Amino acid sequence: MSPRKPNEQPVLELKNIHKSFGDRQILKGVSFNVYAGEMLGLIGPSGCGKSTILKIICGLLEPDEGEVIKRSDEIGLVFQGSALLNSLTVRENLAIALQRRKLGKAEENRIISERLKMVGLEGYEDYSPTKLSGGQQKRTSFARPSSMIPRSFFTTNRPPVLIRLCRQLLKIT
Ligand SMILES: Nc1ncnc2c1ncn2[C@@H]1O[C@H](COP(=O)(O)OP(=O)(O)OP(=O)(O)O)[C@@H](O)[C@H]1O
Ligand SMILES: [Mg+2]
Repeated sequence: MSPRKPNEQPVLELKNIHKSFGDRQILKGVSFNVYAGEMLGLIGPSGCGKSTILKIICGLLEPDEGEVIKRSDEIGLVFQGSALLNSLTVRENLAIALQRRKLGKAEENRIISERLKMVGLEGYEDYSPTKLSGGQQKRTSFARPSSMIPRSFFTTNRPPVLIRLCRQLLKIT
């Protein structure tokens, strides 16, 4: 990790985030900053609200109170479960995330192959997710975020292999 520049702004700021589901208050004033190239872990018992924080960062949930400031569009969310659609191939799963970029088929296929190579799954384009190992499914989900090569990944997965993969992918950018 390169040293932080003086006056560098965080790529992400969470300020006093509150979130309740019904009468259960889950987040009670969460604040933290993330700087480019930084690896941050959210640690806490099951059900304490880690995934809820990630969903708020990525806009899947609205906070009841507080503010999220993002200074990058290059943010990718990797779901805790791999969230792959088993009725589609690996290629089709990745293509869904690229849809909004309206690329031609050839460019889309080129990017998909490049991404799969980055996560060590070269040649798996036409596999069904059901034929992949658990780790391969997880790596496919890392290849899926819609921005070209996300500069920031948010994931609740902890295994060291995924931490190494994040490092490797972030170094490429
Ligand atoms: N959409 C929802 N509606 C109601 N309750 C929810 C919703 N999403 C999460 N919760 C509740 O919020 C709490 C925090 O859930 P969250 O998924 O953030 O936990 P977590 O810290 O990621 O846990 P784990 O380590 O088990 O993944 C849990 O009690 C969960 O039941
Ligand atoms: Mg979770």
